[in-house]
Amino acid sequence: MKTVDLLVEEHKNIKRMLKVGRQIAIDIMNGANIDYDDFALIIDFIRNYADDHHHNKEEEVFFKKMKEELGEPMVSGPILAMFSEHDLGRLFVRNLEEALEEVKAGNNDAKVDVIANLIAYTDLLNRHIDKEDNTIYPYGENNLSKESLAEAEEKMQRLEQDAESKGVQKKYIDILVSLEKKYL
Ligand SMILES: [Fe+2]
Ligand SMILES: [Fe+2]
Repeated sequence: MKTVDLLVEEHKNIKRMLKVGRQIAIDIMNGANIDYDDFALIIDFIRNYADDHHHNKEEEVFFKKMKEELGEPMVSGPILAMFSEHDLGRLFVRNLEEALEEVKAGNNDAKVDVIANLIAYTDLLNRHIDKEDNTIYPYGENNLSKESLAEAEEKMQRLEQDAESKGVQKKYIDILVSLEKKYL
């Protein structure tokens, strides 16, 4: 699969999980109890599928190539913005985890921080994905040399195969499907 097509496919899966997260936040707002096991699955998905599996391909392969080849304006502008949004997402997830611990320890008011950080993350990532799908990826695909695109594709395939041999994709799609069934 072409580099960009693969990344866009992963975005679709991430967006499906964002939908589940938003629904869980709405349910909590309406009085539902927090299911800590399900939150653990969502955070696992965010950290290991959205971040490790997907953002790693952007940071270490595709955006890296764009940085190397397309020069300073690309590096100091849009690519840096994408990297800092990845970081902001990590912060929201850490805050979410802390808020969950607070609620678990009996601080009911911390539910507002669970909702706030979950929604902040889903909103950030939805916007981030739209920017990548509609602007950054097409720009990279149209401006990188054929050689660089081929090199990126080869590296991505290797990462994909390596993850597949560890069952990464299957594990996280299974989690996604089970949470969709439960919440949507
Ligand atoms: Fe990204
Ligand atoms: Fe992305």
